[in-house]
Amino acid sequence: MRFVLRIGGSVIASPIDSVLISRYADLLKRLKTQGHDVVVIIGGGALAREFIGVAKDLGLDERSQDEVAISISRIFAQLFLQRLGELGCEAIPLTIEDTVKCLHEGKITVMGGLKPGMTTDTVAALVVEQINAELFIKATDQEGIYDKDPRKHVDAVKFEHISFDDLLHVFDEDKHKAGIHQILDPEAVKILRKGIVKVVIVNGFEPENILLAIKGEKIGTTIL
Ligand code: UTP
Repeated sequence: MRFVLRIGGSVIASPIDSVLISRYADLLKRLKTQGHDVVVIIGGGALAREFIGVAKDLGLDERSQDEVAISISRIFAQLFLQRLGELGCEAIPLTIEDTVKCLHEGKITVMGGLKPGMTTDTVAALVVEQINAELFIKATDQEGIYDKDPRKHVDAVKFEHISFDDLLHVFDEDKHKAGIHQILDPEAVKILRKGIVKVVIVNGFEPENILLAIKGEKIGTTIL
């Protein structure tokens, strides 16, 4: 299967979890040897947000804040690539074209952000469009999508399925800001809602959830 895996910085990078990074790398190697094609997009998590804070304190504009956060996400992608060895692409893709090239070379593609003014969710959605992926998995810090923020409301209810239209109503913040944390960026939703791919949101602290999503088993929230 050809799939795109978006790993939240909130999962592997907040704080940095080398054991989890290693487990993901082993899982990716296993999936590759089983014949799956995968592009992984990693965010910068708390470290990226810390650097965004520093950039703000220095009086730098949003664009510069984003640039700094992109660099952090690429450091995490670099760690993954080093750990994947020969199975990973030679260098981190800096453009969507690089991503396609790496995939065609039969390598596991791992990348961070691409350009200011977007999030890694949107990067992942753009990759999905470009490579005709069959599945998009977001590994995040929650069990799925809830009717309200589960960190603020104990009575929040998780959806097993949700439509793209309903999802856009769940979001209260729609505009890009450096470091914004949402379960799935509305800009990405706008691309993914074209119905090009199956979208599953899972708890990323358990890499095995990726396997379950690939097998089509009931896990997290599926967006239809
Ligand atoms: P994300 O917010 O997408 O990554 O990128 P994350 O840490 O994985 O987020 P969670 O865990 O899903 O919340 C961090 C920041 O990097 C900048 C943005 O400021 C973004 O909020 N960024 C990332 C870009 O400007 N362009 C990109 O292509 C990617």
